[in-house]
Amino acid sequence: MNKILFPVNFTWGAATAAYQIEGAWNEDGRGESIWDRFCHTHGKITNGDTGDQACDHYHRYPEDIALMRQLGLKAYRFSTSWSRVLPTGQGPINAAGLAFYDRLVDAIMAANIEPFITLHHWDMPQALYDNGGWTNRDNLHYFADYAALMAKTLGDRIRHWTTFNEPGVIASEGYISGEHAPGIKNNDKLARQVTHNLMVAHGLATRAIREIDTTLQVGIVLSQWGIDPASDDPADITAADDAWYSGDSAFLHPIFRGHYHPLLVQAAGDEMPQIMPGDMALIAQKLDFLGINFYSRTVISAQGKIAPIPGSEYTEMGWEVCAPSFRRLLNRFNNTYHLPPIYITENGAAFPDVVSPDGSIHDERRIDYLRQHFTQVRLAMQDGVDVRGYFVWSLLDNFEWGHGYSKRFGITYVDYATQKRIIKDSGKWYANVIASSQVD
Ligand code: FCB
Repeated sequence: MNKILFPVNFTWGAATAAYQIEGAWNEDGRGESIWDRFCHTHGKITNGDTGDQACDHYHRYPEDIALMRQLGLKAYRFSTSWSRVLPTGQGPINAAGLAFYDRLVDAIMAANIEPFITLHHWDMPQALYDNGGWTNRDNLHYFADYAALMAKTLGDRIRHWTTFNEPGVIASEGYISGEHAPGIKNNDKLARQVTHNLMVAHGLATRAIREIDTTLQVGIVLSQWGIDPASDDPADITAADDAWYSGDSAFLHPIFRGHYHPLLVQAAGDEMPQIMPGDMALIAQKLDFLGINFYSRTVISAQGKIAPIPGSEYTEMGWEVCAPSFRRLLNRFNNTYHLPPIYITENGAAFPDVVSPDGSIHDERRIDYLRQHFTQVRLAMQDGVDVRGYFVWSLLDNFEWGHGYSKRFGITYVDYATQKRIIKDSGKWYANVIASSQVD
C-alpha cells in the first residue's frame, strides 16, 4: 500500500460553527439571530428542527475538547455567535456571552490545541437584520466593531482570524434559493448587493483587527466548488471557464485583483451592485491566509450543467465525490492569483451513519472520501500550492442548516436524545493520520 507523507508541522484540525453546535439559544443574555428566527418559522427546516439545543456544546465544551485531545487535533476552527456577545449586534456587550468564549479559548489552549476563530458563520443578529441587514452600510461598521471587540478580548491567545465563512452562500442561499436565513427567494439584484457589502464588511473588519494588533493573521473562508469541463472539446472548456469567471470568481477576483471580472460585470448587467468610493481598496487589502472549503464540483458543457455524472459516487447531500477536482481547483487558483498561504478550512461528507451492534460507527465511505481528498491536496502541494493546514468538517454531527439533523458530517457521532458522543471509525482513522503525518 502506498503511503503519502505530510509535513510534520502540518496543521491538522476539525471545524464547527456556533449555531450548528452550541444550543443555549436564549441563555445567559444571548440575543436572537436570523437563524433562530428562521428555524422558529414553521416549514423552513427539515423535520421542524432548530439549533435551540444542537449539540449542547455551550454546556458540554469541556467534554468536546476532551474529544479533540483524543483525536490528537493540532487545531480547532470554531465560530463565535455575534448575538451572544452583542445581543442586538451593536451597543451593550453581554458580559456572560463574552466570558463563554474567553473560557472556551482558555480550555482549547490548555489542551494544547490551536484555536482558529471565524467571526461570522451566518448567524447575523436579528436586530441588525430588522435594521436593513447587509444592505444597511451602518451594519457593516457594526460588524467591524464586533471584530475589534473580539480581537481585543481574544487576540492575546488566537493568532488566526477569519472574518466570514462562505459569504457567497449567505447571498445565494439566503437571497436566491431562500433555503437559508433570512429566506428571501429569487432576488438576484439584492444577492449581488449583499455579496458586495459582505466583502466591504470583510475589509472593514480586517482593518479593525489590524488596528488592535498588527501581528494577527487575518483571512476569509470561501466556499469553492470545482468547475470542470465535460470533455476536452474547446467549446466545453470555454463554457466551464466562462461559468467560473462570471459567477464563482465573485470573491477571489475582487480580493486578489481589486476589481470584478469583466465576465461577471457582463453577466450582472443592470444588476451590478452599487460600489462606493474606496470599497474596492478595502476589499483588496492584503490577506495573511485564505481559507478554502471544498466539498464537490460542477461539470459544465457548452450546453450547460451536467448532472448526475454516470458512474460517480454521490454523498447523502447529493454532492458528487470527485477529489481530483480539488487538486485542479487549487492549481487553478495558484496559477491565476498571487495567493497567501492556504488552509483547507472545511472538507468532509455526509453519509447515512448507523451505530452497529458493537457500538461503533463503521463509516468506511467517509474514510474513503477523506483519504482521497487528503491525497489530492498533498499532490497539489507537490505541484507548488502552499497549503498549511486542513480542517475536517466536522468534529461532531451537528445542525446541518436547512436539513436540520438529518445529515451527519461528523467524525464523531452524536446521539441527539442523550447527547452522547461516539468517535466514528473515520475519527479513529483520522487520529492515526495526524499522529503519523501519513495517509495510507
Ligand atoms: C458548508 C458550511 C458548513 C457546513 C458544510 C456542510 O457550506 O460552511 O457550515 O454546513 O457546508
